Amino acid sequence: EKGGYDYFMLKEIAEQPKAVADTLLGRIDASGSLTLDEVRIGASELREMDKVVIVACGTAFHAGLIAKYAIEHWTRIPCEVELASEFRYRDPILDPRTLVIAISQSGETMDTLMALRHAREQGSKVLAICNTNGSTIPRESDAVLYTHAGPEVAVASTKAFLTQLVACYLVALYLGQVRGTKWGDEIQAVVRELSRSSQDVERVLDTMEPVRALARSLAHKGTVLFLGRHVGYPVALEGALKLKELAYMHAEGFAAGELKHGPIALIEEDLPVVVVVPSPRGRSVLHDKIVSNIQEIRARGARTIVIAEEGDETVVPYADHLIRIPATPTLLQPLVATVPLQVFACELATARGNEVDQPRNLAKSVTVE
Ligand code: F6R
Repeated sequence: EKGGYDYFMLKEIAEQPKAVADTLLGRIDASGSLTLDEVRIGASELREMDKVVIVACGTAFHAGLIAKYAIEHWTRIPCEVELASEFRYRDPILDPRTLVIAISQSGETMDTLMALRHAREQGSKVLAICNTNGSTIPRESDAVLYTHAGPEVAVASTKAFLTQLVACYLVALYLGQVRGTKWGDEIQAVVRELSRSSQDVERVLDTMEPVRALARSLAHKGTVLFLGRHVGYPVALEGALKLKELAYMHAEGFAAGELKHGPIALIEEDLPVVVVVPSPRGRSVLHDKIVSNIQEIRARGARTIVIAEEGDETVVPYADHLIRIPATPTLLQPLVATVPLQVFACELATARGNEVDQPRNLAKSVTVE
């Protein structure tokens, strides 16, 4: 049932191109317009929404953080993202013009379920992004957009995460479409690129051998740090979470701009630091800033592991290890940048003799608050 792989996690990492393609299937037509049949919240109602609030836990929360960038940039609707476990306890401001999006692979996470119940009690409409047909969260929501990752068995979420990203992009683009956001060249390019993103994921998977070798060489380390900016920041958080839960290593993700406000004090000789570099096109200011962050930490002895677009030569002099990913529009980069981090964590867990599919103390779905 593991299809020739040693672990479900390896199988599920490998299934990501298909999971992404299946989640896109039938949702973007040839002219680039979106049909999300299952989103049973009417277009007129969606046009009235003046705020989006995303609630989720763990990896799904990281997908939500990335969704915020896409929703605000493409639709100009303010969007908040909150850990489901914190949400209802702070008496959040919700009304019928708030669209709440609950993201959950299992559809059974109690924290997320309680958050969505609270939102509905306040009169908000809830859209679930979920991977499990007929589970509790979509049943209790006003609408659902299913991710088509197929069953995810390994406790650590991989293919579900990539499909959650796809679903979030689709929702953001759909909101833009119904609200009449100007469908400029940028959005058209994004829709085109999104349609072929499964091929990009495939290409990344084909080049993972050096990442595995690197992971094995770091098996004795105690700490790994992850840095990113813009959508690369949630990717850094996700890389750190994967490493904690699988390799039981101390791992932290930081927004690269925060380095100088504290975390740079952690940098010491030979500390592995993974840096997710934004595209040198799109937000080029951010790109240049992160390149100087890499220089700064390297000057203090860090071992830099740099994830950068193919063709980005500016990072080469400062990268002790360079991991290439295909060029994508800025907002879509997490679809490709996350994959090496999953492989990295999985290989480190294996090298440290850990149980990859069933990390200690964790359960696949957390049905208690
Ligand atoms: C991390 C992981 C967890 C889940 C979280 C939410 O690899 O698997 O952090 O993402 O427990 O679970 P769902 O998506 O089922 O609500």
